Amino acid sequence: MESRPPPAKRLKTSVWGSGQRRSYVFGHGMEQQRRELPIYRARAKLIGQLRYLDTAIIIGETGSGKTTQIPQFLYEACIGGYGVIGITQPRRVAAISLAARVAEEKKSELGTLIGYTVRFEDVSSHKSKIKFVTDGMLLREAMLDPLLRRYSVVILDEAHERTVQTDVLFGIVKSAQRKRKELNKMSLKVIVMSATMDVDLFSQYFNQAPVLYLEGRQHSIQIFYTKEPQTDYLHASLVSIFQIHQEAPSSHNVLVFLTGQEEIEAMSRTCRQIAKNLPQGSCQMTVYPLYASLPHLQQLRVFQPGQKDCRKVILSTNIAETSVTIPGIKYVVDTGMVKAKRYNPESGLEVLAVQQVSKAQAWQRAGRAGRQRSGICYRLYTEEEFEKFLNMTVPEMQRCNLANVMLQLLAIGVPNILTFDFISKPSPDAMRAAIEQLKQLGAVKHKDNQIFLTVLGKKMAAFPLEPRFSKTLLVSSEFHCTEEILTIVSLLSVDSVLYSPRAQQEEVLSARRKFISSEGDHMTLLNMYHAFKSVQGQKEWCRENFVNSRNMMMVMEVRRQLRDICLKLGISLDSSRSDTGNIRRCLAHSLFLNAAELQLDGSYVSLDSRHPVAIHPSSVLFHSKPSYILYNELIHTSKCYMRDLCVVDPEWLYEAAPEYFRRKLKGAKT
Ligand code: CDP
Ligand code: MG
Repeated sequence: MESRPPPAKRLKTSVWGSGQRRSYVFGHGMEQQRRELPIYRARAKLIGQLRYLDTAIIIGETGSGKTTQIPQFLYEACIGGYGVIGITQPRRVAAISLAARVAEEKKSELGTLIGYTVRFEDVSSHKSKIKFVTDGMLLREAMLDPLLRRYSVVILDEAHERTVQTDVLFGIVKSAQRKRKELNKMSLKVIVMSATMDVDLFSQYFNQAPVLYLEGRQHSIQIFYTKEPQTDYLHASLVSIFQIHQEAPSSHNVLVFLTGQEEIEAMSRTCRQIAKNLPQGSCQMTVYPLYASLPHLQQLRVFQPGQKDCRKVILSTNIAETSVTIPGIKYVVDTGMVKAKRYNPESGLEVLAVQQVSKAQAWQRAGRAGRQRSGICYRLYTEEEFEKFLNMTVPEMQRCNLANVMLQLLAIGVPNILTFDFISKPSPDAMRAAIEQLKQLGAVKHKDNQIFLTVLGKKMAAFPLEPRFSKTLLVSSEFHCTEEILTIVSLLSVDSVLYSPRAQQEEVLSARRKFISSEGDHMTLLNMYHAFKSVQGQKEWCRENFVNSRNMMMVMEVRRQLRDICLKLGISLDSSRSDTGNIRRCLAHSLFLNAAELQLDGSYVSLDSRHPVAIHPSSVLFHSKPSYILYNELIHTSKCYMRDLCVVDPEWLYEAAPEYFRRKLKGAKT
């Protein structure tokens, strides 16, 4: 390892302009910290401008204080009036941690003056005047009230992320603002914020709204590029981590951006192994993985102060890219890679795949190094390579399946979804494919060249779930298995309940064996849930069986909420008891668009597009070869893998969508 040249060869200074160097003294009051933020100096001017503007675009470096301070400024200046100031976030963890931070700054109990609402969790009350919401939740609110009358201000934060939900919200909020004006109702102030975005596009979309620039970042960041392109970004990260580890003081923590759970877990093991074998007297290292499906408590460990004389190395996916502040980060190592969704409307395949980040993402990543003091970012690519990155991330809207968006727009009452005022229009092919899927699911119908929601479609939109899952719940009463489907859908709606530490792989496998169903992963999860219930969720049982008890508790909460919606819709709650055939038949009626067929040579193809697919090694079906299976998602690494599988009969698929399968199903009885 030491023989490899160090990754950072070219120094580029002042990329960020002349930032002020300042470090916080611990014990400093929070009020003092607020005053030291760059945004504080702009407070009076900003309030003066925002008071009179209907719409504003705010650009300010990451860490300048936009997200935590602007809502407070507005509230303190009574700009929100009697309404609520809503701030959207693309991610749950950001919405929760920011609400907690602002509540702490305002010395107010979370859930009173400052609250948050994320899917399946509402910590807000009628007293909440500042509310952090995920963009998906605000969209749900718009279904009940398209004018968003509770809100006097909506701040669309992290606009550069361009998630599907944020993109739809731009249109919904813009239309709510216009309609409220037409109806002489309380005006709606719209503020769009980001550190990096295409200001012209946003300003133009929001009727030439003015762009306010916040000056100065808090701390300077030096950027280093590699001199040569790196063929192996994992190896290059490892070299960088240990180079930093050998040179920097132990209080300088390192944040490394990688692409996914497996890669991060493998890298954690390697780092720990190498660190263990370093010569005596070297500084200690603790490695923390950070990814979305990691148990929540383990995610929180990242934010806690580390041990004395021990360096923290955090290996993270892009969940640490925006919004969150991890204390003590001095170094960022950016591989320039991310795992993201890609969709091909022609084949109908939506896959997760590793790809290059955009320049905007790379700047966000670098920004994580300068949150509390000046920092250093090692980019594991050359400056020439960086120049070729896309400027902005391609909006998710243009690279994902749009069925859910189309269903939501119809539920909100948008008159013609094909001509909706999208900030960046998705391709007509993708829109047509989405509508076709909704038609297959029975959610929409065509009449006089217009698209309408069916009765089933209206009910589907009532669930905070993807259309195929809401459909599963809605048809489950026909198969007398609503209780079981509620459990399965809840299990698929939270972070994984399976806890699989690599170091105890053998124990995990043997503990899990007793739950395994030859009918697939859905049924295996169902067995685990039943076992968990039969011991009243004992912690000890969870530990012995490598079940994440917090996520299981969340499953129960989600299940309770989904059950309430079922009751409201008058769905009878039957149980199929030991008849698992009914459950799988019910799944076939809603997941039939995600079916795969075994070929003579032992491989699989997806029935929808006849694309080659393979069973993911994590599936309980990895060593078996059922003729027909349903999958929950596709992930592309070396191959296109199907994850979370259920064995089905071809007859059920045919029965679910006869016309569709007449075209698709080759080997089955028709
Ligand atoms: O939105 P923006 O990136 O402009 O900054 P912010 O999220 O409002 O955070 C401003 C500063 O507050 C950060 O740079 C941190 O110093 C501090 N902060 C923190 O210490 N802990 C948090 N959970 C959030 C912010
Ligand atoms: Mg922010």
